[in-house]
Amino acid sequence: MEKISNMDWGVVARIVHMLAVVAWIGGVWFVTTVILPTMRKKPAQSWLVEFSVVECRFAPQARIAVLLVLLSGLYMLYQYHLWNRLTDVRFWWMDLMIVVWLLFAILLFVLEPLIVHRLINRRAAAAPDQTLKVMLRLHAVLLALALLAILAAVGGAHGLF
Ligand code: HEM
Repeated sequence: MEKISNMDWGVVARIVHMLAVVAWIGGVWFVTTVILPTMRKKPAQSWLVEFSVVECRFAPQARIAVLLVLLSGLYMLYQYHLWNRLTDVRFWWMDLMIVVWLLFAILLFVLEPLIVHRLINRRAAAAPDQTLKVMLRLHAVLLALALLAILAAVGGAHGLF
């Protein structure tokens, strides 16, 4: 009992933060560098079905991971009294993390269920190769931003900047 009350819950939140980031961005890495390039060699009808199957399994996991990143991040801000960093330019990497989080959250919780699915189906029927190219480019941009946020956050949290 004594041990639990002495526990630094901020460290627990940091572990949760990192595990959720690994699950989420690792999934984006896999989709961007393995799944989508593999689809390039397939006929339009078959890649659309296969991509939907992969996406239907990954999207709910990504949503849970994104929520865990938010909750654990907010808990660390509260536990370590870091709120003032959000308006301090020296901690630009904190704002970068939050901007990246917002981008993905809007995509996963708003755009994907409401617009993206229908848009992909419609555009893929008319121009499958072009649609796949655009999807690959968008995923690559999102992945690059996420990797930049990870690089900046680890560097920032450990005194590199
Ligand atoms: C609303 C969203 C987020 C909040 C509130 C948040 C908050 C935080 C806080 C407070 C820390 C600890 C900083 C320190 O120890 O000085 C942290 C660390 C970190 N966060 Fe976030 N974060 C968010 C989103 C993200 C995202 C989207 C990523 C990755 C793409 C990310 C990756 C990291 C990494 C890699 C660390 C460094 C951990 C370490 O090396 O100890 N965070 N975050």
